Amino acid sequence: MNGLLQKIISLTKRRGFIFSSSEIYGGFGSCYDYGPLGVEMKNNIKRLWWDEMTKNHENVVGLDASILMSPKVWQASGHLTAGFADELVECKKCHHRFRKDFLKENVCPDCNGELTSPRKFNLMMKTFVGPVENEASITYLRAETCQGIYLNFENVLNSMRMKIPFGICQIGKSFRNEITPRDFLYRMREFEQMEFQWFCQPKDANKFFDFWLKERLKWLESIGLKKENLRIFEVPEKERAHYARRQVDIEYKFPFGWKEIEGVHNRGDWDLSNHSKHSGKDLRYFDNQTKESYFPFIIETSIGVDRLFLALLCDAFEEIKEGRTKTTASTREVEILLRLNKKVAPVKIAVLPLVKNKPELVKKAESIYQDLKLHFVCQYDEVGSIGRRYRRQDEIGTFFCLTVDFESLKNDDLTVRDRDTMKQERIKTKDLLSFLKEKITN
Ligand code: GAP
Repeated sequence: MNGLLQKIISLTKRRGFIFSSSEIYGGFGSCYDYGPLGVEMKNNIKRLWWDEMTKNHENVVGLDASILMSPKVWQASGHLTAGFADELVECKKCHHRFRKDFLKENVCPDCNGELTSPRKFNLMMKTFVGPVENEASITYLRAETCQGIYLNFENVLNSMRMKIPFGICQIGKSFRNEITPRDFLYRMREFEQMEFQWFCQPKDANKFFDFWLKERLKWLESIGLKKENLRIFEVPEKERAHYARRQVDIEYKFPFGWKEIEGVHNRGDWDLSNHSKHSGKDLRYFDNQTKESYFPFIIETSIGVDRLFLALLCDAFEEIKEGRTKTTASTREVEILLRLNKKVAPVKIAVLPLVKNKPELVKKAESIYQDLKLHFVCQYDEVGSIGRRYRRQDEIGTFFCLTVDFESLKNDDLTVRDRDTMKQERIKTKDLLSFLKEKITN
């Protein structure tokens, strides 16, 4: 595995971001658990996306549809047919299986053995609903969240008195029986998507496609991804998803290469017309002004939370060889700095008494921590030298370290250390909250 990715995986486990699922049973392929810091960071990402879509844009509302739906949905959407399948080949010697499109040569990459001819492998995860396991009780875990949006198109339109153009956004789990899950959070079998569907007149679809693509790129940069690590790929017709008239993948430069993190699709009238046909419910939109009925076109933006989480970690991860803190300068250890965007960082502030054997210092630091934790995610740490504690906080991307020292007792102030510049400022306790709010929320 790529060395940088290995370092990131090891940091995320050591510092409580990500654990392998079912670890004590030897793990469960391609599923991961978010630890205490991971869940804070993941919630930050989801909140930022939700706010971006619903607050920074007009005519966008939210939805939270169920994961299990009628199996007819997946027939109508095309996911049960060839459209949602990968080509699988198996090595005749070692019996390892591979996605055909991932292979560079026509022999087994593990043992050079001969491969079987490819067969289609559908990615839908099957399950049974109710006490009897038979054909009639089969349904599927959703493979994309957006189908729940299409099914509720009319409910949202009517209940919220929406008019075209408008958008619906949703965050939720999706499941795919990937043949070759790989690269940590990049390709999983259970993952989370943030999907947005914009319903518009067919004649406006191209214009809105370009608009949303630009908006998405802007947002990705605004939460910390470097411009030079992002690029777009116009997907040619024969490689597009079965529902897409136009598809642009936004790619990120991962340590293992340029890979898609977000898809922007013009789904045309594929979804609403197919659901109309299969359900018998006419989902055409009636335009009160022109007195015409039509299937709106859908512009979709779809990004995986986990993939974005991984991209943000890769972008923020820095190794500093010369040592930033006194402790490491002397021992020549490599320091890790996670230069996460302040809105994304799981912990904003750490409160540190300079030494732990002075009860007055500890008491003051604890009281500051108790006040601040009502406003920000904070940590309190009194264990080890101050240099080591700074280092622990740099590793998880904590934005500010506040140190309560002997002068603090005299002057009722403390030092505020900035993660990126390491500059230290003395701030009066009474001004602390407004200072931090200004720095962290702006
Ligand atoms: N509704 C459209 C749709 O699902 P997609 O390109 O198949 O389109 C959209 O998926 C995004 O979902 C991807 O760009 C990726 O970020 C995420 N995603 C898809 N499959 C994934 C997997 N197996 N593991 C993690 N994330 C995945």
